[in-house]
Amino acid sequence: MRPDPIAESTLQAAREALAREDRVTVLTGAGISAESGVPTFRGKGGIWRERNVTELATPEGFARDPKLVWEFYNWRRDLLQKCSPNPAHLALADLEKEKDGFVLITQNVDGLHKQAGSRNILELHGNTWRTRCPGCGRREDDPRGHVPYPPLCPQCGSMVRPDVVWFGESLDPGILEESARASQECGLFLVVGTSAQVYPAAALTPLAKRSGATVIEVNLEPTPHTELTDFALTGPAGEILPLLIGKG
Ligand code: OAD
Ligand code: ZN
Repeated sequence: MRPDPIAESTLQAAREALAREDRVTVLTGAGISAESGVPTFRGKGGIWRERNVTELATPEGFARDPKLVWEFYNWRRDLLQKCSPNPAHLALADLEKEKDGFVLITQNVDGLHKQAGSRNILELHGNTWRTRCPGCGRREDDPRGHVPYPPLCPQCGSMVRPDVVWFGESLDPGILEESARASQECGLFLVVGTSAQVYPAAALTPLAKRSGATVIEVNLEPTPHTELTDFALTGPAGEILPLLIGKG
């Protein structure tokens, strides 16, 4: 899907706004990884359409049936191992090299931004490739495709869990605070591939707007925040971001 002629002029204006600004904060959601083959959570083919959020993505679900939760995360690890960054992730890694005040906030737990070469990343919802021990708090990188069950903490023997934020849990306060600051202090806020339904992440776009930033949204469809954006670019992130950021 190519941007239509009207979007072409919007795209040009958005390119100019981006070129003028050095303090750029980006917020990404599952949509940026869709073209890498990672399913989104909501909408067509979304994970939460076919699976039960309460069983798989809450602390209560993990307490009730940790094996089921680990089977789900091992399924996701399997799938993610076959995925690689797409042109949208790569364009953001390029953008970071050009901007001194660049911050990338992501809700994604797939690790694809890092793989693409992004450096200054705030992972709001954690990372699938890391485990955390509920007993002693130990965190460990675990890049294995499959985590054998039961995964036990080498330090205290408790069963470790994926180091991701589940429904009903608080985000890391330090990461949230840095994200809020980056949203308030930027001159341009670029929001890509998020349905803007999950808080507190969804509060960052209005916060940036209230603080005076120009807001660019890239999404396949309108979201609750499209109205407050200065430039809404409709289409696949893997096509739009290289056009927005590229030097062409
Ligand atoms: P969602 O699945 O809610 O939304 C994905 C968004 O991406 C939708 O607005 C789609 O229109 C858009 N989209 C899909 N494909 C796209 C493409 N190729 N290019 C551009 N946009 C595209 O995902 P999130 O908003 O990230 O939380 O969901 C937020 C949180 O809810 C996730 O981090 C996850 C989930 O439950 C946790 O796991 C804690
Ligand atoms: Zn432990």
